[in-house]
Order: sequence, then structure tokens, then C-alpha cells
Amino acid sequence: MTPKALAQLHAVCFATPRPWNAEEFAALIGAPDCDLITLPGGFALIRSIAGEAELLTIAVDPDRRGEGIGGRLLARALIRAQAKGAETCFLEVAADNAAAIGLYRSAGFTQTGRRPGYYRLQDGQRTDAVIMARPLGPTAVA
Ligand SMILES: CC(C)(COP(=O)(O)OP(=O)(O)OC[C@H]1O[C@@H](n2cnc3c(N)ncnc32)[C@H](O)[C@@H]1OP(=O)(O)O)[C@@H](O)C(=O)NCCC(=O)NCCS
Repeated sequence: MTPKALAQLHAVCFATPRPWNAEEFAALIGAPDCDLITLPGGFALIRSIAGEAELLTIAVDPDRRGEGIGGRLLARALIRAQAKGAETCFLEVAADNAAAIGLYRSAGFTQTGRRPGYYRLQDGQRTDAVIMARPLGPTAVA
């Protein structure tokens, strides 16, 4: 996927946090510590540094949700991070994002923290960020 296509899908999927533009995607996918995983209907970006991975974003076309694409993207991203030596993966998710939290829980992530009022919504209200993590041991990635 091109940076422009990534930005277009991101804009369809995200209001909070703000969608990233094509320039931001170009910089991320050009960075050696970042891996882009794509499948028809979605993509994921993961960064792996010094034994730790961070899932930067994951997005599935609204018309393709519930088909298992998000789960497959996440599994492939974790395998990529593990291959780069990451032993743990962290991520941040808005506390009211039930679909994403369901996806992460089903992939073995558990909540490790919470940042009150971390995200600002379009209407000016704020919502908490939930921090989740899971180990990436030799047998941990399904
Ligand atoms: C989160 C997202 C990537 C899930 O993608 P998806 O392709 O629909 O997910 P899958 O079909 O692979 O579902 C995998 C698991 O996620 C969970 N899940 C998916 N949608 C869910 C929902 N609406 N509510 C609760 N759990 C849900 C389920 O556990 C599901 O497993 P199951 O089908 O065995 O029950 C997608 O909803 C999305 O792009 N959302 C907008 C962007 C976003 O919020 N990204 C995450 C930001 S941190």
C-alpha cells in the first residue's frame, strides 16, 4: 500500500486519535525499526526497538470488519516483531474502543495501565487511554 492509500484508510477508520497523513506514513514505513503489514482490507504498523515492540496502529476497512483480517494482521505483526528480537509488545487504545480492546484481548494482551483523559475527542470531551501488553516468548505468538 502507498502512503496515500494508508492515509486514506486511516482517515476512514480514525477520528480519535487524529488520522495520520501520507507524509507521516511515508516517514514511518521508511524507518528501519518499523514494519508495515498489509492484507486486502487492512494494515498494521509495528515498531520494534531494543527488545520491545509497540503496535503503532491497525486499521480494517469498515466494510471488511469481522472477517478475521484484524486478527491476522495483528498475528503477523507480532511474528515480525518477535523475529526482530522483541520480547514484549505494548499498545495504547482508547478506553471506549470495544472492538480494538476485544481484538487485543483475544490475541492475549492484558491491561497494564490507564492514562486518564489522554485522548481528546472531536467534541472536546476527553477519554482515557488503556495501555495493554503481552509477552512475545518463543512459543507465545500464535
Ligand atoms: C479493531 C479492528 C482493527 C478489528 O478488525 P477486524 O478485522 O474487524 O477484527 P477481526 O474480525 O479479526 O476480529 C478479531 C477479534 O477481535 C474482537 N472484535 C472484533 N470486533 C469486535 C467488536 N465490535 N466488539 C468486540 N470485540 C470485537 C473479537 O474478539 C474478534 O474475535 P472473534 O471474531 O473470534 O470474536 C477494526 O475494528 C478497526 O479497524 N477499527 C478502527 C480502527 C481502530 O480502532 N484500530 C485500533 C486502534 S488502537
